Amino acid sequence: MIKISMIGTGYVGLVSGACLADFGNNVFCIDIDRKRIDALTKGEIPIYEPGIEHVVERNVRSGRLHFMTDLEEAVTKSDVVFIAVGTPPRPDGSTDLTQAFNAAEQLASCLNGYKVIVQKSTVPVGTTRKMAERIREKAGSGAQFDIVSNPEFLREGSAIEDFLRPNRVVIGVESERAEAVMKKIYRPLYLLETPVVITTLETAELIKYASNAFLATKISFINEIAAICDLVGARVDDVAKGMGLDQRIGAKFLHAGLGYGGSCLPKDVTSLIHVAASNKYDPKIIRAAHEVNRSMVGRAVEKVRAEIDPVAGKRIGVLGLSFKPNTDDIREAPAIALIETLLAMNAKVKVFDPVAMDNFRQLGHTVEYCTNAYDAAEDCHALMLLTEWNEFRELDFERLKRLMAEPVLIDCRNVYKPNIVEEHGFRYRSFGRGSA
Ligand SMILES: NC(=O)c1ccc[n+]([C@@H]2O[C@H](COP(=O)([O-])OP(=O)(O)OC[C@H]3O[C@@H](n4cnc5c(N)ncnc54)[C@H](O)[C@@H]3O)[C@@H](O)[C@H]2O)c1
Repeated sequence: MIKISMIGTGYVGLVSGACLADFGNNVFCIDIDRKRIDALTKGEIPIYEPGIEHVVERNVRSGRLHFMTDLEEAVTKSDVVFIAVGTPPRPDGSTDLTQAFNAAEQLASCLNGYKVIVQKSTVPVGTTRKMAERIREKAGSGAQFDIVSNPEFLREGSAIEDFLRPNRVVIGVESERAEAVMKKIYRPLYLLETPVVITTLETAELIKYASNAFLATKISFINEIAAICDLVGARVDDVAKGMGLDQRIGAKFLHAGLGYGGSCLPKDVTSLIHVAASNKYDPKIIRAAHEVNRSMVGRAVEKVRAEIDPVAGKRIGVLGLSFKPNTDDIREAPAIALIETLLAMNAKVKVFDPVAMDNFRQLGHTVEYCTNAYDAAEDCHALMLLTEWNEFRELDFERLKRLMAEPVLIDCRNVYKPNIVEEHGFRYRSFGRGSA
């Protein structure tokens, strides 16, 4: 049993902390957000993540998982300190490292004997080493610690499964002592024969960015193919299937639609572009992936305009606000830019999302919040499906047609088969299925 502090109890910190407790460790989850810790202490989960409540509840009950705001108390009791704080984007695309360096400085003043400090946040290449230097400056040259880069690859919506059964674990480490501790922590995954990549700090940091940039490129690539499909009358679903069956390509992340969003891909792509540019390299492919993605909201708006121009004064229903299903996270969700564009065009916007409406409300947009998909569709001139939540996959089209002012569906996630929707009398547009 290892005593572990987890600094930052957001999506990554809470899931990692709870799962590390599940491996049998004693874990102290710390956050500066007192409301978040108060909620967790009362057994309330502050994020929507399927299954997390059971892992938290079981480990709190067994006495292995603790929530606190007192970083010093947690760190002094721990052998290993994970940092899982936010690394949000700055307006110029670079990464705001304030939270990461603050966490490093705070823990530096609490070092009471040897610790392994594990950097789990996604940080630009070179940051982990700089954090170690900052800790040494603050804690003094006699401070005993090793630093490790251990980027996280979990996906919101399936985070528990991803943490417990990852495709790989990446550990950037330069001391045998710290490597042994990390292997001990991940021993349950070694038993599942999870591949573990042991490498340098910088390489570990870059593996994370390269992976996300590659996934983003795959999405933008298929979206570009979808645009060509629309123009030449080909079907992107079949193109993706035909491509994906080639094992060198693989079927995943070849789903055409509105593009990627969320708290990782957009910011990690711009951060990598920024890192490359500041090293005087122009990363052309990654920049193109980013630009294609940025054009997707405009393409969706063109599809609405093709059906109900002018949109000014018309009511448009939006199904789904989170950047993907099974999460309440709306950070960089395409829904935000799309709704802002529709509002700027003087459309009236009605929205529904099963779990993300409270987060969206905080943005303060003038939209009508609805209680379900049909409520959102009522009196609308067009309905836009932005997030492929399961409950939007089997809509009752006859009911929708009766409720809507005009039967128009813009399916931004290619959920439906065009002919089936059209048989119900809908005007239907999606991405890359022959309806530019
Ligand atoms: N969300 C994901 O799906 C995901 C997946 C892989 C990697 N990541 C990366 O992991 C990191 C964390 O992401 P997240 O989505 O969990 O962020 P988040 O914003 O949900 O959570 C970060 C938490 O850290 C807390 N915090 C900040 N400074 C602190 C301090 N000094 N002491 C204690 N707590 C502090 C904040 O209050 C917040 O609750 C980011 O670098 C992100 O890029 C995220």
